[in-house]
Amino acid sequence: MKGIVLSGGSGTRLYPMTRAANKQLLPVYNKPMVYYPLTTLMLAGCREILLVVNPHDEEAYRRLFGDGRQWGLSIDYAVQPKPGGIAEVFLVGKHFIGNDRVGLILGDNLYYGDSLPAVAERGATGSGAWVYAYWVSDPSAYGVVEFDAADPDRPISIVEKPKDPRSNWAVTGLYFYDADVCDVAASIPRSARGELEISDVNAHYLKAGRLTVEKLGRGYAWLDTGTPSSLLRAAQFVETVEDRQGLQIGSPEEVAWRKGYIDDAGLERLIEPIRTAEYGKYLQGLLARR
Ligand code: G1P
Repeated sequence: MKGIVLSGGSGTRLYPMTRAANKQLLPVYNKPMVYYPLTTLMLAGCREILLVVNPHDEEAYRRLFGDGRQWGLSIDYAVQPKPGGIAEVFLVGKHFIGNDRVGLILGDNLYYGDSLPAVAERGATGSGAWVYAYWVSDPSAYGVVEFDAADPDRPISIVEKPKDPRSNWAVTGLYFYDADVCDVAASIPRSARGELEISDVNAHYLKAGRLTVEKLGRGYAWLDTGTPSSLLRAAQFVETVEDRQGLQIGSPEEVAWRKGYIDDAGLERLIEPIRTAEYGKYLQGLLARR
């Protein structure tokens, strides 16, 4: 299964934190932000990953991830010359996608919940377009989906950042599509803000009767990290859960090991250079406990 992580953008709402550093490389508590969405894609079963990055950040991402082999993945890079909307990844990533189904996750979205792997796998193995909706207090900051009053699972409209939202259901930043998505993205016009909107892609699939919107219930956390306070809250959330359980959220090493992408010896090799760091100690504990 193929997956794309969109890690571009200018992160202007986080200035000056993002003047010299790419937003998705900033820490969320104890890991780079991008680790969280990457592991969500891994849990969905994606092992061939394309990272879409800004031209000047490619080197930093290559330092962080290399070719992904250490985690049993294959990681490739594509450059988005300037921020032009989420749906642009399907133009940039056309060759990578080929004729396959593809997952897309935004590099600043953090998902947490017990059955997240099963939920994400459903989208990965489903047909057409498959997206997730989450009840939020301020839907006007997101793509908003309206459901049929008579059939609460049937989406009837999707609107990007509406002034007058028709519901509180925000479309989250995890999407799965069939290979047609590249042609769909190429066919939609740019929006008033000059971007190729993912909501227009989803609305296209909706019109064709090929969109599934799965609701994430109250037992999930879907956090974003677009402002200084939401970034801090996400970090506090991760710290709270990790400290309570002694189990980490969003560790690619752990997910790779638990899914059998790497064996004990592979994990040992990753631990070796970071043995004295808290993170290294955590990974050692996984091997000791098994
Ligand atoms: C983007 C999408 C929006 C979606 C959101 C999820 O918003 O355009 O539809 O609900 O991500 O994080 P943006 O990041 O451009 O504000």
